Amino acid sequence: MAADAEAVDDPTAGLPRMDDIVSLCARRGFIWQSSEIYGGINGFWDYGPLGVELKNNLKALWWQRVVRGRDDVEGLDSSIIAHPRTWEASGHVEHFSDPLVDCRACKKRMRADQLDDAGPCPARQGTSEHDWTPARNFNLMLKTFVGAQEDAAATAFLRAETCQSIFLDFKRVRESARQRLPFGIAQIGKAFRNEINPRNFTFRSREFEQAELEFFCHISEREKWFEHWLGERLAFHHELGLKETRLRVRPHRPDELAHYAHAAADIEFLFPFGWQEIEGVHDRGDWDLRRHSEFSGKDLTITDEETKERFHPCVIETSVGIDRSCLALLANAYEEEKLPDGETRALLRLPLAVAPVKVAVLPLAKKLAEPAQRIASELRRHWSVFYDESGNIGRRYRRQDEVGTPFCITYDFDSESDARVTVRERDSMTQERIPVDGLRAYLQDRLETAR
Ligand code: GAP
Repeated sequence: MAADAEAVDDPTAGLPRMDDIVSLCARRGFIWQSSEIYGGINGFWDYGPLGVELKNNLKALWWQRVVRGRDDVEGLDSSIIAHPRTWEASGHVEHFSDPLVDCRACKKRMRADQLDDAGPCPARQGTSEHDWTPARNFNLMLKTFVGAQEDAAATAFLRAETCQSIFLDFKRVRESARQRLPFGIAQIGKAFRNEINPRNFTFRSREFEQAELEFFCHISEREKWFEHWLGERLAFHHELGLKETRLRVRPHRPDELAHYAHAAADIEFLFPFGWQEIEGVHDRGDWDLRRHSEFSGKDLTITDEETKERFHPCVIETSVGIDRSCLALLANAYEEEKLPDGETRALLRLPLAVAPVKVAVLPLAKKLAEPAQRIASELRRHWSVFYDESGNIGRRYRRQDEVGTPFCITYDFDSESDARVTVRERDSMTQERIPVDGLRAYLQDRLETAR
């Protein structure tokens, strides 16, 4: 009775298992642990041939929707290491920490709010409970040294969020791009956090990518732009095909707001390990510009030409983790489907816009390689194409289904006489005969509308 009730209440019941997704990712070249041959390094991941395509497609779509597709947002690509004063001004040196505890018996180190994951203590026979120290703050910024000295004066930080350089460059970008309020600055790049317990595959890593937008407006318009950007970002995740039932918005309670935030909402996705944040939308007020003005001594205010009011603009931020978003895409797309012949196929129902390979070209026999390769090279000028002539055709289709390739083109013996090929669609598995010289238009029709 209790077990049944638990199953009904568990929102992850029926979702694919993380182990299957992790195993597919490594086996098929999406993502695996960094430095694998040395036993791996906790919290760091490598994206293989298919993973990097998926990630690049996601970043390109974000850039199109947030930067290129609008005339009120400018792009930026700043350095990862900024002047160390940046992180004093931003509040990270003082506030960016998690509560840490150590077990006095087995020396295990855990985040104090994640002790349920600690498991039994191997050093305390009889009780097997850990003997935790009181919690103390552990700063999450990763340190390095710049230049030939390794002392306090040479200490610098790998950025913990990409947005701080946007504030440092605010004036430059505004003036060079001749922007007026309201407008935004966006960038995509690596961020680093020395997480105490990296976990759930790429979900919580020590090195990850963020795509952030800082949108500057007058404080009187803060609610309007907060709602606007929350709506835009939700629409983006819907466009990526994330299922309605697996997406939700969770406003922050006042007691959980970050030190810079006036208001915030998380966009959460239902992963196999539960509801978790993939993106944050924050009203940062004038915290960052005001603090950087104070710490640098440079004026980062704006003067309203009509009213002559001088002020630090209010900032509405959207911050999505590219790695978390990729993981959500994979977890959302992964399915094991029973076929009428009793077999099961694993497939990734990835949206066309982000699928790593758009088209696979498969000659039915090795003898047909030459004309099939000609088709592949022609299509490769437009899309990412995979050519495969080994194994039986059913198995080759399955291999493509498993990595989310939307279209497979088979060149068979009839193609030699009728100049047509079979195009098989991934999700429905329907097949159509298409003239070779109409292939490009056929695919363009389907792939371009997905942009
Ligand atoms: N500039 C605001 C900021 O960084 P955040 O909520 O700390 O806000 C934003 O991070 C997003 O960055 C998160 O929603 C998440 O997608 C991603 N992120 C944060 N920490 C991460 C980690 N350790 N591993 C992977 N992604 C992370």
